[in-house]
Amino acid sequence: MPDQQKTFKRLRRLRMTEPLRSLIRETELSLNDFIYPLFVVPGRKIRNEVTSMPGVFQLSIDELIKECFEVQSLGIPAVILFGIPETKDELGSGAYDDHGIVQTAVRSLKKEIPGLLVITDVCLCEYTSHGHCGVIRNEEIVNDESIALLAKEALTHARAGADIVAPSDMFDGRVSAIRKTLDENGFYNLPIMSYAAKYASGFYGPFRDAAQSTPQFGDRRSHQMDPANAEEALREVAADIDEGADIVMVKPALAYLDIVRRVKGEFHVPVAAYSVSGEYSMVKAAARNGWIDEERVMTEILTGIKRAGADLILTYFAKDAAKMLRKK
Ligand code: PBG
Repeated sequence: MPDQQKTFKRLRRLRMTEPLRSLIRETELSLNDFIYPLFVVPGRKIRNEVTSMPGVFQLSIDELIKECFEVQSLGIPAVILFGIPETKDELGSGAYDDHGIVQTAVRSLKKEIPGLLVITDVCLCEYTSHGHCGVIRNEEIVNDESIALLAKEALTHARAGADIVAPSDMFDGRVSAIRKTLDENGFYNLPIMSYAAKYASGFYGPFRDAAQSTPQFGDRRSHQMDPANAEEALREVAADIDEGADIVMVKPALAYLDIVRRVKGEFHVPVAAYSVSGEYSMVKAAARNGWIDEERVMTEILTGIKRAGADLILTYFAKDAAKMLRKK
């Protein structure tokens, strides 16, 4: 041994070759964790790419079915549906219409591809003329009247055959209102994935183009959370679990990985993280400019979300990630 060879701890030993690195790798992405968000619109043969989200499309139901066959063949177990209705009104009536866009899409999907898990986003913002998530009275987004409509909406999704309902509004008491309505109507086995800690985030920008749900006035800060708060997220999650949520979600993901970690540590329920539209668009835009390596950054972000403690990841990268994982 040459004199200069020290015997201090050498952490690099286990990094020297790929077989060694893979042997001690702590976090592995799995296709089983992905949920792919999809936007459904009225009409036929419609496949509109969302300008701010390359690779993401607004799809008519016939195109949605095609897309979902591909999603299933890639091994992705679940999709979450967002609907854009033909017409919008003050009370978002398209949201709780048994023959609305999402309800019709769910029925077709469950008929054509019964093995694919279909989750529905339960919210009013895509359906109201003002773009808010609830009913407006004297410029206030009122809570209790809104949750009654959300419960009605969830029931129409259940009747259409949804496998999980996912309320994304952040009003108080919506999980128990939905749970009660589902149970009273025989859907006691239908799980609720609540957007439990959902922040008022600038990262939703591209989604609002895709879902045409930008508020016509004001913002969502009276119900979505202040990005500065963590303790409050734990209170939100505790309340939702108490009310009957089966899976709790943190949203967005990237800027809130501390929340994912704390929720995973404190509550013993499955945790979902929603890597939102802005997180996707940033990566796509930088990659298109040749500034970053898209696949590498995507993998790093998804691995980071999982390492933080997410059991499930909602991501627009699900198809890209599935293709990447399959070629490995
Ligand atoms: C509300 C909803 C939003 C998203 C999912 N559900 C938008 C909002 O709260 O304004 C955002 C998802 C994303 O940005 O990818 N229905």
